[in-house]
Amino acid sequence: MKILVTGASDGIGLAIAKHLAAKNNELTLVARRKEKLDDVVAALPGKGHRSIVADLSKKEDVDALKADIELNKYDVFINNAGVGMYGRFTEMPLSDQQKMMSLNMNALTALSYFYLSAAKKGDALVNVASTLGTTSYAGAAVYAATKAYATSLSESLWWEYKNKGIYVMGFCPGATYTNFHEVSGGDKDSFPKFTMQTAEQVVTEMVSALESRRKPKVVSGGLNRFMIGLQKLMSRKMVISMMAGFGPLKDSK
Ligand SMILES: NC(=O)c1ccc[n+]([C@@H]2O[C@H](COP(=O)([O-])OP(=O)(O)OC[C@H]3O[C@@H](n4cnc5c(N)ncnc54)[C@H](OP(=O)(O)O)[C@@H]3O)[C@@H](O)[C@H]2O)c1
Repeated sequence: MKILVTGASDGIGLAIAKHLAAKNNELTLVARRKEKLDDVVAALPGKGHRSIVADLSKKEDVDALKADIELNKYDVFINNAGVGMYGRFTEMPLSDQQKMMSLNMNALTALSYFYLSAAKKGDALVNVASTLGTTSYAGAAVYAATKAYATSLSESLWWEYKNKGIYVMGFCPGATYTNFHEVSGGDKDSFPKFTMQTAEQVVTEMVSALESRRKPKVVSGGLNRFMIGLQKLMSRKMVISMMAGFGPLKDSK
């Protein structure tokens, strides 16, 4: 199958690329760092892999992918690229948070639009969201909101496209051991180890869900699924306060 993965130079996207290339798929990898992408493409098993350098927080780079999507007719399209920002809302530059929104929401929406406009029966679109889209997360408020957007969009699109034989999945990892946390201004080692999955564990669950094509929203990790189930029994005030306790802010002042 021909598969495009955004954000494939590192972390979960890199693990997706390795996993799917080992299953004899042809990968197209998208990210900003050309040298990193070149190294990844060269090291992947199999053949036919290629890379596209694009900054998906920029509208012109996103729009430039439209022609490639129409030409290549990917069997699977994985919107994985995303960034976070840890800190108090008004203590982080608004422009940086809006840039994050451009990547996590605008690019994801436009690429979903281009892909689904050209999709055929049997195709699949995966949008990588986060458990934080369901729980909210003081200390990364805008990031969590972008992931709520990605989750909601994916669920609605799942319904709109299922009778055309096209599968749309909102995939929600919980805390995952990647450089995402450092890039976001945090530290992956600040999370208790037992709460984290490796990128490979997350990808194994994603690929399994992609193969069974059953659910509009898939949460990765038994502990994450348990916590989201438990939170349905709690008041929102309790959920938000509990999640804030795991976050980077030490008080609500
Ligand atoms: N790690 C977690 O705990 C966690 C939990 C839940 C959900 N997620 C989600 O999972 C996805 C992948 O995260 P990750 O943990 O793998 O993060 P990561 O290790 O930081 O990797 C992010 C990837 O996105 C690419 N990227 C970043 N900004 C980009 C841009 N403007 N244009 C194009 N590509 C860009 C990066 O490559 P370049 O720098 O080369 O562009 C990199 O390949 C994200 O959507 C994230 O929100 C992560």
